[in-house]
Amino acid sequence: MDTYVVTGAFGYSGKYIAMRLLEQGHTVRTLTNSTRRANPFGGRIKALPFRFDDPRALAAALEGAGVLINTYWVRFDHRHFTHSLAVENSLKLFSAAQEAGVGRVVHVSITNPSEDSTLPYFKGKARLERALRESDLPHSILRPAVLFGREDILVNNIAWALRRLPVFGVFGRGDYRIQPIYVDDFAALAVSESRQTGNRIVDAIGPETFTFRGLVEEIGRIIGKTRPIVSVHPAFAHFVASVIGRVVNDVLLTREEIDGLMADLLCTSSQPAGETRLTDWARENAHSLGARYSSELARRRKRLKSYEEL
Ligand SMILES: NC(=O)c1ccc[n+]([C@@H]2O[C@H](COP(=O)([O-])OP(=O)(O)OC[C@H]3O[C@@H](n4cnc5c(N)ncnc54)[C@H](OP(=O)(O)O)[C@@H]3O)[C@@H](O)[C@H]2O)c1
Repeated sequence: MDTYVVTGAFGYSGKYIAMRLLEQGHTVRTLTNSTRRANPFGGRIKALPFRFDDPRALAAALEGAGVLINTYWVRFDHRHFTHSLAVENSLKLFSAAQEAGVGRVVHVSITNPSEDSTLPYFKGKARLERALRESDLPHSILRPAVLFGREDILVNNIAWALRRLPVFGVFGRGDYRIQPIYVDDFAALAVSESRQTGNRIVDAIGPETFTFRGLVEEIGRIIGKTRPIVSVHPAFAHFVASVIGRVVNDVLLTREEIDGLMADLLCTSSQPAGETRLTDWARENAHSLGARYSSELARRRKRLKSYEEL
């Protein structure tokens, strides 16, 4: 059985990936900023901190690993973290993997990355894809549009807003599309890609394509909170999201995320890589979906609690 290093195994997608690997009898190590976060693994996973400040220590943490599955990234620029730092750190991680002789890298990117993009998320991800292409590391690049599952933020917080607000605003016409994949289908894909050979790129999308407006309508129907959905100017939507963000002490939605959605960047013409339908999953989880707000910033501040509690 192989030794895997999975980044962020006490976080969201990394947890599902690590779970699958342990079930299959592999040894799993994790690199994380949250070594003491509550997790379901007990002592079965050795947790080491990301040592981006020390290339030797970073390489030592990867020593003996057949595969690195890399989920590390930051969602938006903030006073404590930035996309440019995430790019810099990821490049260090790839160098360390090469130094340590890791056999394969499964790297998580985003749909439609581009170095020409004005959006740092999509530009940074494209820069990292190029770094892998230019390296000697055999790799698979997975490009999800958005993940859904119990610890999810976007779908959960749409439901949270529908439960609390009398009306839901979508930016512009709301006709831009989104192809969510179930987090455990995504984990299965990451594990199966770890066994492939050669260099591969896979759009990690689920079986359903929604317009953003359609997704909100569908979630509203499923949780029994159908609301009038109104089109608003993106700047106004961002303003309202900022006000709500202040109330919940989080960044609800960035202008960049609005722009990425509106540019149809979370949609591809690829075949689905996952089979779980968001609508089925949402029906099964209708009672809990959106019952609590999921906070990105709380996940960064409260490093002992599990994502499900935040
Ligand atoms: N979630 C989605 O809907 C979605 C959609 C498209 C693409 N993706 C991509 O999928 C990958 C995994 O996403 P995920 O939602 O599963 O992520 P996650 O578990 O929340 O985080 C993955 C890793 O990045 C670290 N990290 C996240 N934000 C950070 C910050 N602000 N500062 C420092 N470290 C940070 C985490 O830290 P800890 O070690 O402390 O846990 C963890 O090691 C990412 O590369 C993301 O770009 C996700």
